[in-house]
Amino acid sequence: MEEELLMIPGPVPVLPRILKAMSKPMIYHRGDEFGRLYEEIVEILKNIFQTRNDLFVLSGSGTCAMEAGIGNLIDNETRIVCIANGKFGERFVDIANRYNENKENVTTVNFAWGSPIELETVKEALECNPEVVTMAHNETSTGILNPAKEVGKLARKHDAVFVLDCVTSIGGDEVPVDEFGVDIAIVGSQKCLGAPPGLSAISISEKAWDLMQENPGRPYYMDLVAYKKSLEKKQTPYTPSLPLFFALREALEVIREESMERRIERHRMLSKAVRAAVTGLGLSLFPKLNEISDYSNTVTAISIPLASGITDEQIRGGMRKKGVMVAGGQEKLKGKIFRIATMGNITEKEVLRTIKALEQVLMENEFIDGEGRGMEEANRVFQNAWK
Ligand SMILES: Cc1ncc(COP(=O)(O)O)c(C=O)c1O
Repeated sequence: MEEELLMIPGPVPVLPRILKAMSKPMIYHRGDEFGRLYEEIVEILKNIFQTRNDLFVLSGSGTCAMEAGIGNLIDNETRIVCIANGKFGERFVDIANRYNENKENVTTVNFAWGSPIELETVKEALECNPEVVTMAHNETSTGILNPAKEVGKLARKHDAVFVLDCVTSIGGDEVPVDEFGVDIAIVGSQKCLGAPPGLSAISISEKAWDLMQENPGRPYYMDLVAYKKSLEKKQTPYTPSLPLFFALREALEVIREESMERRIERHRMLSKAVRAAVTGLGLSLFPKLNEISDYSNTVTAISIPLASGITDEQIRGGMRKKGVMVAGGQEKLKGKIFRIATMGNITEKEVLRTIKALEQVLMENEFIDGEGRGMEEANRVFQNAWK
């Protein structure tokens, strides 16, 4: 039987060579071998982040690094502006409210889920001169790529620390952290890097350190100042998840062999193929764009054509019976959209298997009359793609 194909936005399928790396014997986490491993991982990730800032690997998922970033930066007196147009942008609001009891210091710039970020509205919100600005780059809940460069410019103008959730963009899309003026960038292991879940990486600029070092309310386990001190000895403050570090090192080797340029190109091509296939099948893409936003290159959000009578259960449940798992909508989008991820080490083959399953389900539920259109559209993108 064919294995179930995970086409959800993380965890992504993990290559056998990366899985195998996890079964290596444990090593002393304060010894030279771990020191070399950690140092290599940090150097490679800095290249992928395109940053000269400090970078650390945390034994915790993406949210752990989001909380570490905010928890180290802010206290009750910090003014923070959180820009949100989906679930993950809003997660920063929740974290900010945990670490700042003065609700008036936490300003939320909310846009409807699936709508683009409007720069004029952000500009107005920044007139309060915040010390910190947050945003999700690739908003996985709605399939939109938010304008990191433009918001980075505005944050810099106000001399604010810019915290960007790049959990599902780094490793699959172009994210030049320093050029975009990102002070804190965060990635998760189980997304575009193609590693198992459980690790995250976070980069920290000098400007961000200035706020952190003065903050007595920093978290204990995720104290980034402690991480900085430990890195001088090529260590982490507490016991790292060694099997996951082994796996991450192998996942980074896979990336090196492919090259970041080709990897980003592949992510772009695969998501373009998914968009072409689903629109060719008469479905609509969920996000609404403006001139400074784009469709995500790592996850495609598709509206369920409820007026036609087809349901989320029929689409996703039907695809699952055919061995393909795609994601549903989250919270208020539950039952309204479904999402196909093209992250990590996914290839044309997995995309075609997904589109085929979707076509069959749409036909079985009488949304389309015949099979083949989606596959044709996807194949057209592949044939025209840069190789
Ligand atoms: C954009 C974004 N940010 C943060 C997270 C949270 O990451 P984790 O589930 O690894 O904690 C996710 C997870 O899907 C995400 O897509």
